[in-house]
Amino acid sequence: MTHPRRTPPHLATPTLERVAPDGHAEFYATVTANFMEADAAGREQLDREQFGTARKLGFRVDGRWVATFDSVHRTMAVPGGQLDVAAITAVTVAGSYRRRGLLTQMMRTALLECPEPAALLWASEPSIYGRFGFGEATTRLRVTGRAPEMAFLPEIDLGTGSVDVLPAAEWLALVAPLRERLRAQRPGWLDRDEGWWRWSCSDPAEWRDGALPLQHAAHFDAAGTVTGYALYSTHAVQQPHGPDGEVRIRELVAADSASYARLWRYLVDLDLMRRIRYPRGERDLPLRDMLASTSSITCEIADATYLRIIDLPTVLGARQYAADCDVAVSIGDPLIEANRGTWRIRVAERRAEVAPTTAPADLSLGIRELSAAYLGGVRLGQLQRAGRVTEHTEGAVGALSEALGWHRMPHCLDDF
Ligand SMILES: CC(C)(COP(=O)(O)OP(=O)(O)OC[C@H]1O[C@@H](n2cnc3c(N)ncnc32)[C@H](O)[C@@H]1OP(=O)(O)O)[C@@H](O)C(=O)NCCC(=O)NCCS
Repeated sequence: MTHPRRTPPHLATPTLERVAPDGHAEFYATVTANFMEADAAGREQLDREQFGTARKLGFRVDGRWVATFDSVHRTMAVPGGQLDVAAITAVTVAGSYRRRGLLTQMMRTALLECPEPAALLWASEPSIYGRFGFGEATTRLRVTGRAPEMAFLPEIDLGTGSVDVLPAAEWLALVAPLRERLRAQRPGWLDRDEGWWRWSCSDPAEWRDGALPLQHAAHFDAAGTVTGYALYSTHAVQQPHGPDGEVRIRELVAADSASYARLWRYLVDLDLMRRIRYPRGERDLPLRDMLASTSSITCEIADATYLRIIDLPTVLGARQYAADCDVAVSIGDPLIEANRGTWRIRVAERRAEVAPTTAPADLSLGIRELSAAYLGGVRLGQLQRAGRVTEHTEGAVGALSEALGWHRMPHCLDDF
């Protein structure tokens, strides 16, 4: 039996190529192999439906993929507005080809030809993407709780509604419009069409790690209107001392505090469950403020989505601002020349006018820092104290920091 010749990696010259319309399965198999993940049933089909092949690219050697990269258009809520973003995914390089610049070339190609004014990604490791101008724009709380200790303060109002678990299709018809309505209020949330809902509720058996299939819960208010939902699973565990099950919450969304409280009460009080896990909690999670004993939960801060401003004036023009300011800002950008230089950012009546200026800069920062601060989750003043923003005119960092702040922390529940 003869095998096709394989060029040893040190002698190979990988070539940057696009994926043909019929090449999805082969490309996807390389992504899962490079992520060192087992193929989950149905995921290839889902990826094909949601991402297609139009923007997939990568490096090939001897007709095989050795590096992969993909992105897709999404719309993200930003403070007081919406922003088109390229959601980047499937970034992988085969072990034999790592650290020879393949990721750098794929990222440069994708960012320079990106049709959206900004890019967004989840990083497998936080240290990878800063060099390309991505800033940590949303963070999350990994919440774990001991259910029997999670009593609420007596003044917490649960309303007079109720929670029910519904068949997936019935549930989706009720909660999708609610989430879309609430999306505008939460910077960082992405739009979801039917396909993205399928993606978000995808529940391959290989990923359950002992838990039962995903449950679709909805909260109905006193009038019977849906005002919240939770996506969760349960993992029943029996210990010698008794039941020790875990509730794993994937999403919990509510339109008002009573619906929010009742959804949590429903999950915390499930019989046989003793532990709660919610890995994607928002940074301004109200749950902690409802508890009689805050030590009944542990909240660990973790990174979430990283944002990269590509077209600076468009991106700054897409959001509203919390305070007026008028500053000249020197921007450094390792990749996109058009962003480099000094910009006058003048905010009045919540809107920014952004134009190049020859005036001396009041402050200097990198595109990574501006991208991190853009959704209002990170204060520029904090980055200044970390040594990542330099002030030339007293008060300039404070003024821009105030303007970029927002009353709700950015959050992302969407996986991609
Ligand atoms: C992460 C990954 C894509 C990097 O690809 P790569 O082709 O080796 O990256 P490059 O050679 O272009 O590296 C560019 C720079 O980033 C650095 N870098 C790359 N991966 C890094 C990592 N995981 N942690 C820290 N630094 C990293 C390199 O050291 C290099 O730095 P330098 O310019 O100072 O020398 C690759 O290691 C991989 O596929 N890992 C497994 C899958 C994964 O984690 N994907 C990311 C999904 S979010």
